[in-house]
Amino acid sequence: MTLASRLENLGTETAFAVSLAAAEWTARGNRVYPFHLGDMNLPTPDNVVDAMNKAIADGRTGYCPAAGIPELRAALAADIGDARAMPLEPANIVVQPGGKPVITKFIQSLMNAGDGVLYPNPGYPIYESQVEYFGGRPLPYRYHETPTGFAIDLDHVRELAASGARALIYNNLQNPLGCESTPQEMQAIADIAAEHDLSVLSDEAYFEMRYSGESTSIASLPGMADRTVILYTFSKKFAMTGWRLGCAVAPVAVAEAIAKLNTNDESCTTHFVQAAGVEALRDPSGAAALLAELRRRRDATVDALAAVPGMRCARPDATFYVFPNATEAMTMTGHTDVGEFATAALHETGVSFCTRRHFGRPFDGETEQYVRFAYSGIDVDDITEGLGRLGEWIGSS
Ligand SMILES: Cc1ncc(COP(=O)(O)O)c(C=O)c1O
Repeated sequence: MTLASRLENLGTETAFAVSLAAAEWTARGNRVYPFHLGDMNLPTPDNVVDAMNKAIADGRTGYCPAAGIPELRAALAADIGDARAMPLEPANIVVQPGGKPVITKFIQSLMNAGDGVLYPNPGYPIYESQVEYFGGRPLPYRYHETPTGFAIDLDHVRELAASGARALIYNNLQNPLGCESTPQEMQAIADIAAEHDLSVLSDEAYFEMRYSGESTSIASLPGMADRTVILYTFSKKFAMTGWRLGCAVAPVAVAEAIAKLNTNDESCTTHFVQAAGVEALRDPSGAAALLAELRRRRDATVDALAAVPGMRCARPDATFYVFPNATEAMTMTGHTDVGEFATAALHETGVSFCTRRHFGRPFDGETEQYVRFAYSGIDVDDITEGLGRLGEWIGSS
């Protein structure tokens, strides 16, 4: 068989290769501290599990509407609308098997081949993969490090938007950077979108994963609801990464197009999983306990990293990632290649993490080196022990 040539344009999540290396190192009898994957080692709240079991027992095992069961669409419209202070109807909601499918369905419904699409770099790698797969023109935009985290290079966004972009992907509460926009930065992105008539995908996978302050959706800014599709997911908020449940929030005409794509792709999202989603939104108390644990881990990670020689990072208010600058740590350990540095860290200390390169092609002239630690899949004691080892290795090199 000959594979279709368009597959040459399909990317992937190269971070999975880091998992493989970590698994191999473990299989050889070594201790591994897993900071590499954005998965969670926390259980889904009991009420959600019970609701799914009941839905199966009740026979909710058949096909259901492509756009989602009416009670879930209604619950999502109310919940997402409340949290973002924007009026939403069930007709704006199209249920999906996870948040990720919203990326491809946004691109399939709003981008023509040859259209330019702006997206963050460093950023979630699936944006670039899907833009290129469907024949779009990739327009990655930069961030720069600030004393409190990272900020979007707005001049870069303006310059790229002026080159004839059609769409913009915006991930506030950002993976991998852990950063969020100031109100001014978000408004500037909205202004650019309006000026260039861009369709916007607002990836809000981490909207609720925050430890202080409040999240704002760019879709709630004046004039933005009509040009924005929100990616919403149950994955992180309810520790439901493997359940595959999320939705697109979109203007009705776009929602209908996305529902048609659903019919063509998966027919519908698993019926009994949707019933469990209704219960998660009805009683979200389990999500608060998850967040409290993640906050302990955030503090343990940032505190331990502060003691690692040659690494510096801010204390993010949101997500479950930190993205330290590791330039000096690499110099101290004699590495110029960030991939080799990560491999050496795994072999010397068992600490496994991703690097900047897993989140898009570095821009010409990038001199600083960064790595990403995810603390969603590792307990506080292991965080402290693992990063302690990392610090000893770097300090004694
Ligand atoms: C920024 C971002 N968007 C989307 C997703 C996909 O979420 P889901 O697992 O719900 O498909 C992730 C998952 O890690 C993510 O980090």
